[in-house]
Amino acid sequence: MRSLINILDFSPEELQQLIDVANDIIAHPGDYRERCRGKKLATLFFEPSTRTRLSFEAAMYELGGNVIGFSEAQSSSAAKGESVADTAKVISCYADIIAMRHPRDGAPLVAAMNASIPVINAGDGGHNHPTQTLADLLTIYREKGRFDRLTVGLCGDLKYGRTVHSLISALSRYPGVRFVLISPEELKLPSYVKKEVLAVHGIPYEQTEDLEAVMPALDILYMTRIQRERFPDPTEYERLKDSYILTPEKLKAAKEDLCILHPLPRVNEISVAVDKDPRACYFKQVLNGKYMRMALILRLLEGMEEAPAPEEEIVADLICDNPRCIVQTEQELPQAFRCTNRERKIFRCVYCESKRILKGE
Ligand code: CP
Repeated sequence: MRSLINILDFSPEELQQLIDVANDIIAHPGDYRERCRGKKLATLFFEPSTRTRLSFEAAMYELGGNVIGFSEAQSSSAAKGESVADTAKVISCYADIIAMRHPRDGAPLVAAMNASIPVINAGDGGHNHPTQTLADLLTIYREKGRFDRLTVGLCGDLKYGRTVHSLISALSRYPGVRFVLISPEELKLPSYVKKEVLAVHGIPYEQTEDLEAVMPALDILYMTRIQRERFPDPTEYERLKDSYILTPEKLKAAKEDLCILHPLPRVNEISVAVDKDPRACYFKQVLNGKYMRMALILRLLEGMEEAPAPEEEIVADLICDNPRCIVQTEQELPQAFRCTNRERKIFRCVYCESKRILKGE
């Protein structure tokens, strides 16, 4: 049984298969109307959502299936202190597949470790959002016809923007991709993504605060919202919230075939006047998200072939100090770290991927 927790759980070939299925659904929707008859999707949303939750629900209905679930933690027994692990075991008795959004990094992984049905990560804290990446990939593929040889600008909150981390991981597996990381100093891409994704794949990138200066070079411009809910200090959010506002004026220097993406919701980082520009693809991206989620539900319920187990050393004698990690709140969840660099003794929490370096011997 397969789940989707991190976009890297799927190989580029498996992602291409999902894209092919999504394109076939777009071309022949009638062929798919009964494919999930008698199946139930459970949407467990412990955090607010419009697109992800409703597109999962629309996806399941369009496949002929049914949906159960909740849209806020307060209306579930999480409010009484029930653990993610127990919730996953319980929901496995009622549904065939789970889509889970949770404010804690690593919560959907804990659900997958305890469920007897596939689990889809619908966003975990500031960590990952793999099904948004599926929407991004289908949109890029339909607009550009390829993933290789693209200059991709990522603009805004690159620190807390989980969609950015998942998209970089996915695109770094294609040749000729180059990233332009556009953010204020305080919201730069975390160094672990630079070192362990970009550097490992030898992906060239530049960092800048100046969107207009780099605009002419971009094939894709991925705008992001400054993530107010992840800021420990609200005054810092107030200072940074208007860092980037994309306007028709700023787009004058852009390529004619630029593809402008945004995972949405937007606040003010893309002026509404840009929506009329044929290069604005963010509402197509919303629709593509539904088709990719249909393809994903189908493939996971069909029983995708197991992925090969990684040959990694897991250690349990380190403590995760990320305050947003699920290990901080989940009863009796064992600490678990995987070694990601044996020479430099770097370990990462398996749930949230935060780093620990072993000192001494
Ligand atoms: N893009 C996205 O995840 O939107 P929602 O928060 O509305 O689901």
